[in-house]
Amino acid sequence: MKLRHVVESQQFTVPRLMELFSRTEEMKKIVARGGTRDYENKIMASLFYKPSTRTRFSFESAMFRLGGKNLATEQAYEFSSEIRGERLEDTIRIIADYCDVIVLRHHEEGGAKRAASISPVPIINAGDGAGGQHPTQALLDLYTIYNECHALDGLSVAFIGALDKGRTVRSLAYLLSKFERVKLYFISPDELQIKTDILEHLDENGVSYNLANSTDGIINKVDVVYQTRIDRERLKDRNLDLTNYNIDSSVLQKMKYNSIIMHPLPRSVEIDTDVDHDRRAAYFRQSRNGLYVRMALLTMLFEENDEPTLFDGYKK
Ligand code: CP
Repeated sequence: MKLRHVVESQQFTVPRLMELFSRTEEMKKIVARGGTRDYENKIMASLFYKPSTRTRFSFESAMFRLGGKNLATEQAYEFSSEIRGERLEDTIRIIADYCDVIVLRHHEEGGAKRAASISPVPIINAGDGAGGQHPTQALLDLYTIYNECHALDGLSVAFIGALDKGRTVRSLAYLLSKFERVKLYFISPDELQIKTDILEHLDENGVSYNLANSTDGIINKVDVVYQTRIDRERLKDRNLDLTNYNIDSSVLQKMKYNSIIMHPLPRSVEIDTDVDHDRRAAYFRQSRNGLYVRMALLTMLFEENDEPTLFDGYKK
């Protein structure tokens, strides 16, 4: 099926993921050669209602490396016409007339889906709301795991942090559920634990998982540690000792020699900078992969949506 919009990670089938990863390898070669002009007639609009470093810069860099152009507004909440009360749907309709793809980070969960329901050009969800999804992060995360662990079936992955509103964790859990014999661990204080919609999805797909409050007995046996931040102000007990959720050199000693540590970034104290020098620290390689995966995704969208589509009214 044609890839029209990228709204949620579960829309990707395993063959589609493999196609994306194969293209990602091509993109690495293109970047090494200094880029291409193949997409010089394409324009991307990056519309970010919330702050971003990695997603916005990597998408914009991806577009430039493909030879295309970029229209951008950061802090669209302030600098677009939303400040004057314009509806998201109207903003999308206007911007779609000026570009070939829109990369949208919206402050409301479901914002990307609303935009996609009326947009005549592809919408890429660059993160929606606090507990929505971040599918392109999950794609680059999955590519990183595939590239570093040389497998996806049979892997064990520990997610650590504030998992209830972790849209990167949510999107990656959906993707991992597509593979065989995957085992997932969700490690978090109770009040920030992964939400039931994800657990129900895992149950429906026969994925094995475990919920825990501590890394003890888990960190030593997993292939991937996926670390995220915990915002202390969201805890019932703001004085809760969080050191058990952090990764430092003492935790490294317990981990398997061939495991990897990932983080969508930005990080705070949850990964000690001493860990950066260990070869298992994959988070900077992971963010670099964002450029290649996003280039690959843009090329798929451009090729599969080459026919101009005019906006023909709001769907009822
Ligand atoms: N990982 C991620 O989405 O980072 P940014 O918020 O900097 O885009």
